[in-house]
Amino acid sequence: EKGGFETFMAKEIHEQPQAVADTLRGRIDETGQIVLDEVRMSDQDFRDIDKVFIVACGTSYHAGLVTKYAIEHWTRIPCEVELASEFRYRDPVLDRSTLVVVISQSGETMDTLMALRHAKDQKARVLAISNTVGSTIPRESDAVLYTRAGIEVAVASTKAFLTQLAACYLVGLHLAQVRGIKYADEVSAILDELVAAPGKIAKVIENLEPVREMARASAGKDRVLFIGRHVGYPVALEGALKLKELAYLHAEGFAAGELKHGPISLIEDGTPVVAIVPSPRGRSLLHDKMISNIQEVKARGAKVIAICEEGDAITASHADFVIETPASPTLLAPLLTTVPLQEFAIELATALGRDIDQPRNLAKSVTVE
Ligand code: M6R
Repeated sequence: EKGGFETFMAKEIHEQPQAVADTLRGRIDETGQIVLDEVRMSDQDFRDIDKVFIVACGTSYHAGLVTKYAIEHWTRIPCEVELASEFRYRDPVLDRSTLVVVISQSGETMDTLMALRHAKDQKARVLAISNTVGSTIPRESDAVLYTRAGIEVAVASTKAFLTQLAACYLVGLHLAQVRGIKYADEVSAILDELVAAPGKIAKVIENLEPVREMARASAGKDRVLFIGRHVGYPVALEGALKLKELAYLHAEGFAAGELKHGPISLIEDGTPVVAIVPSPRGRSLLHDKMISNIQEVKARGAKVIAICEEGDAITASHADFVIETPASPTLLAPLLTTVPLQEFAIELATALGRDIDQPRNLAKSVTVE
């Protein structure tokens, strides 16, 4: 049932193009409008929202972090992202015009469920993004948008994450469309790019051998650091989480600009640093800043593995190793840049003899608070 792959996780990585395509299917009509019928919220409901909270755990929380950048940019509605286990204990400001988006692959995560109940008690509207039809979180939410990743067996989440991103982008773009769009051209271009994403994810998957080599070369190290900016920052967090889960190795993700405020002291000769580099096009300021961060860590002895856009010669001239991903709008890039990090974690953990699908101490669905 692993379909010729060594592990379920490897199989699920390869299923990602299909899973994302399935999640988008039927949700964008011929006129380029997003139709989210099963969401059971009217356009007016979406227009009434003046604040969004995204609440989730683990990898699903990282999907939420990416979504914040997209929602605020496309809709100008303030959006906060919070770990479910923290959310309800700090008395967040919620009311009828707040949309709380809870993201849960399993739909059974107790921390997320308790956060959802708290939000409902405060009269907020709750929209669930879940992969599991009929599970508790969608059942208790006011509305639901299902991802269509199919069953994810490996404890470490891969295809569920990419489909959560796809679903979250749809919600963000839908919000932008119903509220009157400031960036109409941009939104329609983004929609085209979203539809093209599965093909690009497939290209990334075809080109994973260099990632595997770099992972094997990093297997003897005590720690691996991941750095990113903008949406590359949550991708760095996700890359580090995958490596912690699978390899039982100290891995941490940082906002690259924050390194100089402390974490750069972790770097010693040969420390692998995986840098998620933004596209050199358009937002080139971000790219410049990332190159400076790469230089900072290299000057302290780091071995830099850069995940960058294809043809990015500047990054190639600064990094020790380069993994190229197809060009993409900045906000959608996590659909592509996450994939090499998933493979990096598998390969490094395999080199250390770990159990890939069933890492120690972890459960697929965490039903205790
Ligand atoms: O089922 P959920 O999306 O609610 O699960 C949340 C986390 O427990 C989950 O993403 C966990 O972090 C994964 N093992 C990460 O790979």
